Amino acid sequence: MSAADGTPNAATPFAAPIPGRARKRAQALVGLSRDHHQALKQAMELKRTRQETAQSTWRRFAEFWERQGNTHFIEEECELLPAYARVADPSHQAVVRMLLEHVLIRAKVAAIREQPEPLAADLRELGIWLELHVRHEERVLFPLIEDATGMTPA
Ligand SMILES: [Fe+2]
Ligand SMILES: [Fe+2]
Repeated sequence: MSAADGTPNAATPFAAPIPGRARKRAQALVGLSRDHHQALKQAMELKRTRQETAQSTWRRFAEFWERQGNTHFIEEECELLPAYARVADPSHQAVVRMLLEHVLIRAKVAAIREQPEPLAADLRELGIWLELHVRHEERVLFPLIEDATGMTPA
């Protein structure tokens, strides 16, 4: 997806993140950032999956999702974004992209779970999505929220 003039639409799910390094996180977001490190480890494993390892990779990811991933998404949707919406416009394209990605990741997890056997190609795609999602949040969304809400660095 891109705008009529050919410029990339930054709200497009899983568009390449803005290059650069994540900056020092605000204290209030340190917990979520720590979760992101775990999510990136999962993403790397998913991206490397072959069909022979798909079952065990999926088991580990499903355990991570139940223990941490799903709760992390809920915290972002139910606490972080409402806090942002109190001081800024939540229709910002970075917020829209994040929410669309949550929906698509959840749909992908549900679809894989319904398969009798996970397909390596699906797991690899999920890994790519998860990595791009985390990098978007660390490099674009979290700085936006920190600046808007006046959160101070840890
Ligand atoms: Fe997220
Ligand atoms: Fe996140």
